[in-house]
Amino acid sequence: MISEITAARTAAEQSIAAASSLDEIRVLDTDLLGKKSPLALLKTGLGKLTTVDEKKAAGQALNEAMLAVEEVLNARRALLGRAERDVQLAAEALDLTEHFNAPSRGKAHIVTQAWQRLEDVFVGLGFQVAEGPEVETDWYNFEALNMPPSHPARSMHDTFYVDHGQPGSTVLRTHTSPVQIRVMQNVAPPIYMIMPGRVFRNETTDATHLAVFHQIEGLVIDRGITLADLAGTIEAFTQAFFGPGFTSRLRPSYFPFTEPSAEFDIRTPKGDWLELGGCGMVHPNVLRAGGLDPEEWSGFAFGFGIDRMAKERHGVGDVREMYTNDIRFIEQF
Ligand code: DAH
Repeated sequence: MISEITAARTAAEQSIAAASSLDEIRVLDTDLLGKKSPLALLKTGLGKLTTVDEKKAAGQALNEAMLAVEEVLNARRALLGRAERDVQLAAEALDLTEHFNAPSRGKAHIVTQAWQRLEDVFVGLGFQVAEGPEVETDWYNFEALNMPPSHPARSMHDTFYVDHGQPGSTVLRTHTSPVQIRVMQNVAPPIYMIMPGRVFRNETTDATHLAVFHQIEGLVIDRGITLADLAGTIEAFTQAFFGPGFTSRLRPSYFPFTEPSAEFDIRTPKGDWLELGGCGMVHPNVLRAGGLDPEEWSGFAFGFGIDRMAKERHGVGDVREMYTNDIRFIEQF
């Protein structure tokens, strides 16, 4: 009897160990501990035993076996229950991680950054900001700026013509200077204005030239404005924009819309000179084109490239790099 009990208990424990689901455990519970289980059947056979001692020993062994099987079964049930719960949780889990992996944040293009910083610095010097159209008439782009149709300076401006109106009458502006005229026509002096914007030249691009680029124009019109005001403004801008170690100089030059005209250079703390742009005292013909009396008003103007500023500031070797939209280039800044 004892050996049968031991065998039944061992068999029960083995089948419990082999069970791999809660469903199987449920079946085993009935099969191994129910009324028709081997151990229960053995119990009904207790009566056939002859001696009291035999009955007592076998009864005790049966009870221990039943308890042991029940314990093993419970342990296995708990284990499989946890495993099934884990599987279910994994299946039902909501993956919220994408809400925490915020998409990387974009930032302004280096030309936009330069544009904004230039505006900030000039606004800090008391200037206001104006913009004009990119498609211009020949009159605003050239004639009003003292460049009549036969003027040789026009050859410096390789022009894109727009098929609109009289042939040759509409252009993509070659510089931001035409906005000077529009400002003079629309704003009563005194004028302290900067005019940033996109300009176009019908040129082959290379490492230092683009066909589409950006300029910022400055215009000051007031009573008694002199070249000293121009030089002082350029110097104040230089120190505010580049830093205290930088200075500026004016070099005599020629532009049809200013008289006298100059180019201005920036001196870096290391002593290198950087050519930046053009400037000068607004030509009387330009004041007249803008509807102002040159006897009453005088002023200065300046203009320079924004893309150049971004290029120099970030040490970009080739300006074309700035417009290929290669994310690896853009992300550096
Ligand atoms: N418009 C000129 C250019 O594109 C730059 C320039 C020179 C602007 C002198 C000015 C100026 O206002 O006074 O080359």
